[in-house]
Amino acid sequence: MVDVRRPDDMVRITTPELAKAFIDEQVALIKEQVGDKKVLLALSGGVDSSVVAALLIKAIGQNLVCVHVNHGLLRKGEPEQVIEIFKNQMKANLVYVDVTDRFLDKLAGVDDPETKRKIIGGEFIEVFAEEANKLDGIDFLAQGTIWPDILESENGIKAHHNAGGLPENMKFELVEPVRILFKDEVRVVGDELGLPHDMVYRQPFPGPGLGVRCPGAITRDRLEAVRESDAILREEFEKNNLVDKVWQYFTVVPDFKSTGIKDEKRAFEWCCIVRAVNTTDVMTATVANLPYELMCHITDRITHEVKGINRVLYDFTPKPTGTVEFE
Ligand code: XMP
Repeated sequence: MVDVRRPDDMVRITTPELAKAFIDEQVALIKEQVGDKKVLLALSGGVDSSVVAALLIKAIGQNLVCVHVNHGLLRKGEPEQVIEIFKNQMKANLVYVDVTDRFLDKLAGVDDPETKRKIIGGEFIEVFAEEANKLDGIDFLAQGTIWPDILESENGIKAHHNAGGLPENMKFELVEPVRILFKDEVRVVGDELGLPHDMVYRQPFPGPGLGVRCPGAITRDRLEAVRESDAILREEFEKNNLVDKVWQYFTVVPDFKSTGIKDEKRAFEWCCIVRAVNTTDVMTATVANLPYELMCHITDRITHEVKGINRVLYDFTPKPTGTVEFE
């Protein structure tokens, strides 16, 4: 299965029938490749790894071992959703590791964006390798590599590494059942596999998670403010049918306080920045035109419901000059 290429004449998977045919074919191929051996998968809860997990569960059931690492930088409700869907509903063999304290301790006082990213990425690989070492008899590593990853790495745009970067002594054969698919096809396959709509159609979320939305050194209270304000924003976008109209939206809480008033008293608190952008290729992005009344309502909710926030700002900066994320 390694180095399989997308056939030039492959029909784009756009219908449940085409998705079902793909699933049947992949399930047979996985069974043939893996036999009765065990496969390890880092299951983040993102679209690609979730679809890979569902395909492998269908093909080999308990011989798939999923590891879900909660580094404390996930959005509200994400680890719970992974456990509910994969462990409770699909009866997957799921190892859940909560390493929030370990990550936040390592990140304490670190304010340089690149250093933060390196710590998060490096620590993730270390935790995953530790978990893999605890397991016996694993021969395969499943990855949610998709076709654009292969094309981009061949064009030198970015190095493609999903769960890659594992220590040299950990050699696994790769299982990459969605490697010939484009993102939209992965979603159609995910739908057909019965994964929840919000999981299959969720917006992009960076590997370093909320860590890049907490500019400056991450503190637990400010991280909580990012998580809670993000949850309110998502809830309001869902209620107001904006989920399919805005490509990516989130909140950022920088390490900066300003004076305000709460309960008739001076409140010296953080501001929360709302970012909402549209794009086709992510190289450039425009700012979403959101209704004024909705922005006022979101501001009211965030300033009253999220501890430590007394102001909400809207980022009007397109890419360029801004990037989508703040770090
Ligand atoms: P920027 O900030 O570069 O973001 O304009 C473009 C898109 O990439 C996402 N992003 C990341 N995704 N790991 C990821 O998997 C990362 O480190 C990362 N940084 C940015 C960002 O959310 C946006 O969709």
